[in-house]
Amino acid sequence: MTPACVADFRESARRRLPKVLFDYIDGGSYGEVTLAANVADVAALTLRQRVLRDVSTLSMTTEVFGQKLSMPVVLAPVGLAGMYARRGEAQAARAAKAAGVPFSLSTVSVCPIAEVAAAAEPPWFQLYMIKDRGFMTELLATARGAGCPVLLFTVDLPVPGARYRDARNGLNAATPGARVRQAIDGVAHPDWFWDVLVNGRPNSLGNISAASTDLGTLQEYMGWIGRNFDPSVTWRDIDWVRERWPGPLVLKGVLDPEDARDALRCGVDGLVVSNHGGRQLDGAPSSIAALPAIVEAVGDELTVLMDGGVRSGLDVLKALALGAKACLIGRAWAYALGGGGEAGVAGMLAIMRQELRLAMSLTGCLDVRDAGPALLTS
Ligand SMILES: Cc1cc2nc3c(=O)[nH]c(=O)nc-3n(C[C@H](O)[C@H](O)[C@H](O)COP(=O)(O)O)c2cc1C
Repeated sequence: MTPACVADFRESARRRLPKVLFDYIDGGSYGEVTLAANVADVAALTLRQRVLRDVSTLSMTTEVFGQKLSMPVVLAPVGLAGMYARRGEAQAARAAKAAGVPFSLSTVSVCPIAEVAAAAEPPWFQLYMIKDRGFMTELLATARGAGCPVLLFTVDLPVPGARYRDARNGLNAATPGARVRQAIDGVAHPDWFWDVLVNGRPNSLGNISAASTDLGTLQEYMGWIGRNFDPSVTWRDIDWVRERWPGPLVLKGVLDPEDARDALRCGVDGLVVSNHGGRQLDGAPSSIAALPAIVEAVGDELTVLMDGGVRSGLDVLKALALGAKACLIGRAWAYALGGGGEAGVAGMLAIMRQELRLAMSLTGCLDVRDAGPALLTS
């Protein structure tokens, strides 16, 4: 099958990856209510069809944090991507660079910052608050030294969310039964096994070499997160990060206008309106529902981005219409990487660009920077 849309890449990832990994990407917290709402609420927005407006020349380029984007899309930080395809973060970063959009590297990536920077270009770096501040200081210095242009500081994960699928797959508790099931599952996916487990080594957390564990056991990875993420993080810690990061600092995971105003007071440069792709607080509003009030509160002073439920170029245009300057995409690229490696991510981005072009043409939007509420009905 030639993938025609993100749903097709999802299906190819489902076939190629062991179930424990596919469910890790695909799933959300608890009943997956917020995950579903992210997608459904974007889908429910209706675009205004406009006609006879000379759409022969369209501009999809935009600029965020001093960086030019060929379209208003950024690859979101996704942990463990090097387990979906061999050296997965490097592959996806190459595809992103070729497409002219930024790639964000997760703290908990397989490839370290230097490997991704060498394979493509310095990525946006995503940081979690980790208890060991000395280690965080080193990590920030490494990201700065590598030339990472933007720091995404993720604030919606003081504690890891809980996902039924991961629990059922034995991701959280290393029972002997779960390990045997995962081993059988791995062997039953020989393409993936050969690509990642045999040829993708080392399968460790590249940025966390001191604490790195063998990701042959995914439970050890989950355990490391549980032990090392800092639940005591507060607004004061933003000042701490700010002192160590002179470049653009972006808080990722803000869903409430009051938090957005606090972020503005803290002197950050931007926000990602996000609920971590429905992986943290189940029952929280969808990102697209939360977006307008945050744009209203701080949109004049801060660069507001959004993620959650963006699966097509049409979805990108809807988010821009509600005030986002660009969208981050998470699962869309994770599925494409898992299903088809670098070529998959490149193909997915080409499809998204084409969808955005068509959506702009049929709504009469000539320039993404002019997108606004008038693109939507009511
Ligand atoms: C498999 C997976 C792993 C993720 N890992 C991280 C991470 O390490 N750091 C982070 O800030 N966000 C992480 N996220 C959240 C994404 O950055 C993003 O907020 C979310 O995927 C957006 O929703 P979408 O998947 O509907 O596009 C992860 C998301 C997924 C699906």
